[in-house]
Amino acid sequence: MATPATVVVLAAGQGTRMRTPGPKVLAPLCGRPMLGYVLDQALALEPERVLLVTGAGGEAVEDFVRGAFPEAPIGFVRQAEQRGTGHAVMVCADELKRASGAVVVLYGDMPLLRAEHVAKLCELRADAGAAVMTATAENPRGFGRILRDGDGRLLGVVEEKDADEAQRAIREVNVGVYCFDRERLLERLPRLSTENAQGEYYLTDIVGMLVEEGEALPSLRLEDERETIGVNTIEHLSEARVGIQMRILSEHMARGVVIEDPATAYIDFGVEIGAGTHILPCTVIRGGVRIGEGCEVGPFTHLRVGTELADGAEVGNFTEAKKAFVGEGTKAKHLTYLGDVSIGKGANIGAGTIVANYDGTNKHHTDIGDRAFIGSGSILIAPSKVGEGALTGAGAVLTRGSEIPAGASWVGVPAHPIGAPKKDSKG
Ligand code: UD1
Ligand code: CA
Repeated sequence: MATPATVVVLAAGQGTRMRTPGPKVLAPLCGRPMLGYVLDQALALEPERVLLVTGAGGEAVEDFVRGAFPEAPIGFVRQAEQRGTGHAVMVCADELKRASGAVVVLYGDMPLLRAEHVAKLCELRADAGAAVMTATAENPRGFGRILRDGDGRLLGVVEEKDADEAQRAIREVNVGVYCFDRERLLERLPRLSTENAQGEYYLTDIVGMLVEEGEALPSLRLEDERETIGVNTIEHLSEARVGIQMRILSEHMARGVVIEDPATAYIDFGVEIGAGTHILPCTVIRGGVRIGEGCEVGPFTHLRVGTELADGAEVGNFTEAKKAFVGEGTKAKHLTYLGDVSIGKGANIGAGTIVANYDGTNKHHTDIGDRAFIGSGSILIAPSKVGEGALTGAGAVLTRGSEIPAGASWVGVPAHPIGAPKKDSKG
C-alpha cells in the first residue's frame, strides 16, 4: 500500500444548509458523529498524521475527536474564515512543511467513501504531482466537472459556477479527494488566486497548474457514485444513513447474525451481537448495546443504552429496555418496559410487565433473580427485588422497596405474600 504521510480532512464548512445548530460533521449517523466514519477512512490508510481542519464550532469537534480517538495521531488546524478548499489546505502549510511523503485530502462530510479506494488512488499516483478521484454522477449538480482531451487525458476541473453549458453537460465529476506530492503541492498553494465565480481559493486549480506544466495526472473513477454522497442537508444525511446502516448490517450478517429484514433493522455503530442471534423486523438497537449468541430480538423492540442480553435471551414484541441486563435464556416477549434492571437466568417476564424505574426525580434499580416468574401485567416500582425462583401474580404491584424472598409468591395491590394479610404500601 502506498501509505500517505499526511491525511488532511477538510471539515471547516459551516453546514448552514443543515439548518441545525452545531458543526455539521458532528451530525449523528447510526449513533455516531459523521466525522467518526471519515476519521476511520483516514486512519485506515495508516498515515503518520491526520490534520483536521475545523472552523466555527471547532472546540466541539476537537472534544469529540479526543474522546473517540484518544490514541490516534490527529492534529487540529483552525481555519477561521472559510475561503475555499484551497485556503483550507493553505492553513495547513506550516504543518505540511514539517511532514514528508504524500498528502491525501478528504472531506469531513463524505462518510461513505471507502478507504480502499483512497489507498488505490495513492498507488495510482506513483510519481505524479497528483492523482484525482472522480465519479460518474447521475445528476452532476453542484460538483466540479472533470475536463479531458480527446484522448481522455485529464486537463483539469471546472467548478459548476465557472462552467459553460457544454462543460455542465459533463457527467464525470470531481469527488474532491486527491493524493498530492507534498512538495509540488506546497510550491503551488501560494499561487492560488480567488479570481473565479465564487471568489474562493480553489484546491482544484492545483490540478490545472500541474497539467499546464506538462504533467500527465492519473485519476481513479469510482464505480459506485453513492460513495461520494456529501452531506450538506438533512436529506443527504438520511441518504448517508441508509448506506452506513447497510454496511453495519452486512458486517453483522457476515459474523452469523440473522437479520430478517435489513430495511427495518436499525442497528447503531458499535453494537455487539453474537452468532446465531435473530434480529426480527422493526427493531432499534442503540450504540453500546451487547447481545449474546442465540438470542432473539424483535419484532418491534427498542434496546437502548447500557442494555446487555446474555446468550439465549429473547426480547420481543413492544419491549423496550434501557440499562437492562437480561440473563441467559430469560424471556421478555410482550409489551414490556425494562428500565434499570438486572434479571437473572431463565426468568420469565410476563406480558405487560413494567419496571417503573423513575420516581419523577431519580432513577432506581430493580433486581430480578434467576428463574423468577413475573406474572402478566405486573408493575415493579423501583427500587425493589424479586428473589430467585419467586413469583408475582398477574397484575401485582410491587411497591417501592419491596423484596420478595427466594421462592415466595406475591400477589395483589399492593403486592403481598400469598396467604398473608396485605402489608401497608411503603410507596
Ligand atoms: C468542492 C470542489 C468540487 C467538488 C466538490 C465535491 C473545489 C474548488 N471544488 O466543491 O470540484 O466537485 O468539492 O464535493 O475544491 N471546506 C473547508 N474550508 C473551506 C471550504 C470548504 O474546510 O474554506 C470543506 C467543507 O467543509 C467540505 C469540503 O471542504 O467538507 C468541500 O467543500 P464544499 O464547499 O462542499 O465543496 P465545493 O468547494 O463546493
Ligand atoms: Ca464551497
